[in-house]
Order: sequence, then C-alpha cells, then structure tokens
Amino acid sequence: MRYILLLGPPGCGKGTQVELLKKEGFKVLITGDILRNEIEKNSLLGERIKRIVNKGELVPDDLIVELMETIIKEDTSSDKDIIIDGYPRTVGQVEGFLKNHSDEKIIAVYLKVDKDILKKRLTGRRVCPVCKRVYHIEYNPPKNDMKCDVCNEPLIIRKDDEPEVIENRLSVYDKQTQPIVELFENKGLLRVIDAQRTISEIFTDIKEILM
Ligand code: AP5
Repeated sequence: MRYILLLGPPGCGKGTQVELLKKEGFKVLITGDILRNEIEKNSLLGERIKRIVNKGELVPDDLIVELMETIIKEDTSSDKDIIIDGYPRTVGQVEGFLKNHSDEKIIAVYLKVDKDILKKRLTGRRVCPVCKRVYHIEYNPPKNDMKCDVCNEPLIIRKDDEPEVIENRLSVYDKQTQPIVELFENKGLLRVIDAQRTISEIFTDIKEILM
C-alpha cells in the first residue's frame, strides 16, 4: 500500500484528476471537500474553518494533521493505495505526515502549471453543489446550460474563487506550500507532471506512475 500525494497550486487540476481516479476505482481523500463538508455541518469547528477557507488562508497545521491522520487510519484497512489531494500542504504538515508513514510508501506527484494559467482556470471554475463535480466554463463545460451533467443542479462559484481570494491563495501557496515540493524532491520522492496539457494527457501520466 502506498500514499500518492497530489501536490500543486490552486487550480493546477488536482481535484479534476482525483475525480477521474475515483471513477476508475482508486481510493481518494480530498482535503478541501473534507473541510467543506465540515463547514456544511454548521458546527463550531465548521464555522472556524469557514472563516479561514473563505479568506484563502490555511487551516492550522495541528488541526489538519489530527483530522487527516484520523481519516487515513480509518482508511488503511485494505492494502489499496490511497491518493490524497491537498494534504500535506505545509512543512509542518509534512513533518506530521512523516511521523506516521514511512518514506518508502510515499510518492509525491507535483502538477506543475504557470501562474497566469492558474488564474484563468480558477476564475472560470464552476462546481456542482451536490456531487462536487468540477467544471470550467471554457475548458470543461457541462453539457447543458451551466447545470451538472450528473445531478442537473445549477452550478455555483466557490466562495474562495473570488478574484481577491484567488490572489491570496496563490500567494499563500508560494510561501507555505511550494517549499514542500523541494522537500519531497530532496528526499527523492517527487514526480513532476507538466499539467498545462489536456486533462486526459495528465491523467495518462498519473496512471503510469500508479502502475
Ligand atoms: P482545496 O479545495 O484543496 O483547493 P486548492 O488546493 O486551492 O485547489 P483547487 O481546488 O482550487 O484546485 P485544483 O488543483 O483541485 O484544481 P481543479 O481540478 O478544481 O482547498 C481549499 C481550501 O481549504 C484551502 O484554500 C485552505 O483554506 C483549505 N485547505 C485545504 N487543504 C488544506 C491543508 N492541507 N491545510 C490547511 N488548509 C487546507 O481545476 C481548476 C479548474 O481548471 C477547473 O475549472 C477545471 O475544470 C479546470 N482544469 C483542470 N485541469 C485542466 C486542464 N488540464 N486544462 C484546462 N483546464 C483544466
């Protein structure tokens, strides 16, 4: 059993790829969705997370490490690889993760995309509020009139896809997440994918890594 960590800036296509992997039967954990589900519960914790996420900041390391490691533990009942989108995302989270899992079980996959492309992807993103499927008004539009292909629900814009929040998320990424790419590279655990190509080309590369 291995941990495949999908790394990369907001909008690089982690969620899109994870959705395709899930459809093919891979086991996936999507940190952003786990946090958004907590927000939807309207719990005290959800309220706290909501304030952070809507500003484009990161949820504190101790909270994320505890939450994610609990979920990962529940999920290691089988020998299947686990693909994780969005955790770990800071040096502190990597330290927390490495305390619990050994290097030889880890592959970090970095989806590399230039900043100007990221902004176009994020401003044009639309999501289904029910099944969370991700679309893009230009690059990956729904079949019918901005409604989800699966649920037929009108698509929405994520709160953190407002232009000023996008700017902050990209800058938080540069400061707090990009350093972990180097960290995994120095450990010899990093695979880099050119994620400026089509969704299916990237998917083929990821599946090759998973073979
Ligand atoms: P999260 O939901 O993980 O957001 P993110 O990392 O900012 O990533 P995104 O979901 O924005 O982008 P993506 O890479 O999944 O791209 P997508 O596939 O949608 O986290 C949200 C927030 O939660 C964080 O800001 C933070 O507050 C908190 N959080 C999460 N994890 C945390 C952690 N570990 N620690 C602390 N806080 C945490 O694609 C984007 C668009 O591009 C879509 O419209 C898609 O259709 C399109 N697209 C995708 N691929 C292509 C392609 N190849 N060509 C053209 N268009 C494409």
